[in-house]
Amino acid sequence: QHVLHVAVEMAPIAKVGGLADVVTSIGRAVQDMGHTVEVVLPKYDTIDYGEVLGFRECESFEWGGTTNRVFTGIVEDLQVWFLQPGNGFFDINMIYGADWEPIPMMDSERFGFFSKAALEFLLQSGRQPDIIHCHDWSTALVAKSYWDDYHEHGLPNSSVVFTIHNFGYGEDAIGEAAMYSQKFTTVSPSYANEIRHEGCIAQYSEKFTGILNGIDPAIWDPLDDPHLPLAYSSANAVEGKSAAKRALRERVGLRNDDVPVLGIVSRLTQQKGVHLMEHAIWTALERGCQVVVLGSAFDPKMQEHWNELELGLRHRFHDQAKLIFAYDEPLSHLIYAGSDMILVPSMFEPCGLTQLIAMRYGAIPVVRQTGGLRDTVFDVDHDAERSESEGKGGTNGFTFEGADQGGMDYALHRAIDRWYGGGEGQEAWEDLVVRVMAQDWSWNEPAMEYMDLYYAAKER
Ligand code: ADP
Ligand code: GLC
Repeated sequence: QHVLHVAVEMAPIAKVGGLADVVTSIGRAVQDMGHTVEVVLPKYDTIDYGEVLGFRECESFEWGGTTNRVFTGIVEDLQVWFLQPGNGFFDINMIYGADWEPIPMMDSERFGFFSKAALEFLLQSGRQPDIIHCHDWSTALVAKSYWDDYHEHGLPNSSVVFTIHNFGYGEDAIGEAAMYSQKFTTVSPSYANEIRHEGCIAQYSEKFTGILNGIDPAIWDPLDDPHLPLAYSSANAVEGKSAAKRALRERVGLRNDDVPVLGIVSRLTQQKGVHLMEHAIWTALERGCQVVVLGSAFDPKMQEHWNELELGLRHRFHDQAKLIFAYDEPLSHLIYAGSDMILVPSMFEPCGLTQLIAMRYGAIPVVRQTGGLRDTVFDVDHDAERSESEGKGGTNGFTFEGADQGGMDYALHRAIDRWYGGGEGQEAWEDLVVRVMAQDWSWNEPAMEYMDLYYAAKER
């Protein structure tokens, strides 16, 4: 099969959240199975093109009242086509966010133009992929445009697959892609059930499925990670994690005490349960834990709120809590490795990758039971049976259901108790770490499901 992704994010060069990781890692997984995979991406000003192997300008085409330049290169083994329209839509210093800036363009316009330009690029360069796979509201227009303008005019042999990474943005655009795509998916079975009854999805539910995301085991590998002080696997997890913990404390300025570290790596938005994060931070500190937060806020009001929280925490828990407001990939690796627990208290979560990365690095997830978090985290005290029947190799974390502080505390206290030994000694915690690290959250299984889906999409 020849699969071509049209997306507005791709890790590591143009990443805001998990969408970027997924485009790269599903692409690589499918390519490794012997298929041809390419990605079409806007040529953002923000990308460091020095990181793109063999980067060069290769062609151009006239469309949309402008000359569109095309550049190409290799990112994480994948061939990428970068489109640069002459109208300046991507010559601004950001991926999303045009709507908040005093400039005369909207993100919907920029990405709408890009979605159509991507199809025009295929037409004019003579490419005929079997599958055109588009992602989220930003490239949803690909589905309709393909059937309106290209299927009968020059690109007869493609099928469109659309993946919803977040139903919280751009519902109208998503509805249209649902209608026009041959198959559409979301990124976990539980989230699929949560949104299945929404008007624009329910009508087409026969072509809708949930396929769990994986993580790329080569990118997220504590045994081969340039950002860690000591390579480790489950065989030397205690040693490896304590070296990472020391390095993390040194890097962010935490005291070197024998206490658990609770980590958070997250966009700071309502979706991620910021009010519960805040509560959990206080709870953890009052119980003598340390806390590290690496958060990216996009909304200035949200940032202001977290600045105040940071001040308050600094005042009371000076060298026990560190909040870093930045997008920092290397630091994120050190946090996953150096933390004992990772907190993900999302209000909703289509899949969530941070809990999967955390597990691979032996940080135990403490999560709210929703969407993909429900499908991947099995509570140590409550889900033995469910984890057995879903075949994931045992329980692996602490979960809670409600969206209230009581629920949050319930899960967090149990995690902290267990770290301190809870009657069974610290070995119980170490056993848990080893078990969790051995679980397989790679694309091995999900990539097969996508392949089946791609073949089914061709039989439209
Ligand atoms: P979402 O896509 O909703 O933000 P995911 O859990 O699917 O959530 O993916 C988040 C991805 O972004 C993970 O790879 C995580 O490590 C990364 N990430 C989130 N915030 C930051 C940050 N401030 N710095 C570095 N990486 C971050
Ligand atoms: C979205 C979702 C997240 C998911 C990611 C990748 O950003 O919020 O849950 O893991 O996309 O599919």
